[in-house]
Amino acid sequence: MRKIEVFDTTLRDGEQSAGVNLNTLEKVEIARQLERLGVDIMEAGFPAASKGDLQAVKMIAETIKNSSVTGLARANEKDIDAAWEALKGTSEPRLHVFLATSPIHMTYKLKMTTDQVLDTAVAAVKYAKKTFAHVQWSAEDACRSDKQFLVRIITEVIKAGATVINLPDTVGYRAPEEYGSLFRFIKENVPNIEGVKLSAHCHNDLGMATANTLAAIENGADQIEGTINAIGERAGNTGLEEIAVALHIRNDFYQANTGLKLDEIKRTSNLVSKLTGMIVPSNKSVVGNNAFAHESGIHQDGVLKQKTTYEIITPELIGVTSNRLVLGKHSGRHAFKNKAVEIGFELTDQKLNQAFTTFKDLADKKKEVTEDDIFAILTNTQTEAKDVKEYELKSLQVQYGMDNIPTATIAVVKPDGEYLQEAATGSGSVEAIYNTIEKLVEGSAVLLDYKIHSVGGGRDALAEVFVQVKYNEIESSGRGTAQDVLEASARAYINGVNRVRSSHELKTKKVTV
Ligand code: KIV
Ligand code: ZN
Repeated sequence: MRKIEVFDTTLRDGEQSAGVNLNTLEKVEIARQLERLGVDIMEAGFPAASKGDLQAVKMIAETIKNSSVTGLARANEKDIDAAWEALKGTSEPRLHVFLATSPIHMTYKLKMTTDQVLDTAVAAVKYAKKTFAHVQWSAEDACRSDKQFLVRIITEVIKAGATVINLPDTVGYRAPEEYGSLFRFIKENVPNIEGVKLSAHCHNDLGMATANTLAAIENGADQIEGTINAIGERAGNTGLEEIAVALHIRNDFYQANTGLKLDEIKRTSNLVSKLTGMIVPSNKSVVGNNAFAHESGIHQDGVLKQKTTYEIITPELIGVTSNRLVLGKHSGRHAFKNKAVEIGFELTDQKLNQAFTTFKDLADKKKEVTEDDIFAILTNTQTEAKDVKEYELKSLQVQYGMDNIPTATIAVVKPDGEYLQEAATGSGSVEAIYNTIEKLVEGSAVLLDYKIHSVGGGRDALAEVFVQVKYNEIESSGRGTAQDVLEASARAYINGVNRVRSSHELKTKKVTV
């Protein structure tokens, strides 16, 4: 049985998804869960992109012990130095450096000849090897590159010290047979490939990322790259959960496995979805809410008689637990702490107290407090940066009637401590709230996108609102949870504004790749 290494890029390529921007605490929380899931390598970010990115990669590198942490760099000394600054504390520093090799990228983006590209790639790998123990080199847009040029440049970067070669399908262009044959070709034609790992990195523009990654495995890939929930640039990357479960279920065919703990998949998926605001579609393979639902009578009848008639994956395999009532309003701090640990949270005493107070407030209002509710409370508490001065929602009142103009009255405490109250109208309750918030905050705030969903089921479920805002010309996401949809809406908008205010790194335009 071959072991396929898993290189997770949720925090780098995944974070490049439109509308996603995670704060450092959110990144660390995801990194901790990726470690629990058992990824071999996690790409924690792109340190040269901004000061904030560098700090986040550094903090993740200092926190994570059981997975190798890496960072991305373009093929220049400045980027490699930034990555070193972030990663030098790890036991075996690892760098991911890339340069485009396709005629389209070389001509129009890099404006370089093939020889210049080759020299730049070799120089970057040599420079990186002075400090980094492991260097992975990626031929960006490998799939639209000349194969003979790929052989030439890969041979040279291996001589320079690269120990992993990644062949990305950067624009999601190839069909599985073609992508697989590229791996075979490189294995057969690069003279010094022995002992060097080949990595697959696919994008999903034509919906073929998973099939392409599996084709690469069939043709000798040693490592696969992807993200949780298949998030990522444009149509996303390969979903790691799909590859891990496909290899597990079709072990007879692929004769390969990852080292992922499959029963951590659902929790990882939930956490990434909650923190990125990228809601998993119900019909998403492996982790969608309907992945195990049987709707048609014929199917239900079959499953009742014998599960395997229509079910090839069991919910238990990926760690789906029934969302039963777990704690009630009489539950004490001790029981709450035990539950927090059981569902995978490591909290300081201060965060535990904060979460416990929120839980008690909810338990007073809600009949049944489920595992989903507790997960939402703990995730919010764990990732809330309290050390920055923010706008704080103090009160919210909304008047609505079918024949009246909706009016919101809101009070906040400003970052300088001043208490402020305003009122405004709107064509609906949410618009009235958002018009009021725009009057309360200094600077210009504009709503770009709004999404709402419920945490678990039931008429008294918590509401979770995700917004995309532009505050003082800087775009950010925002997240708010409350039992009332209007309060969750207000919290999400204020959270979006606060994120811009508190993240200095967002104030300068971030470099993305
Ligand atoms: O898709 C891609 O080519 C990338 C590289 C930076 C590896 O993400
Ligand atoms: Zn990519």
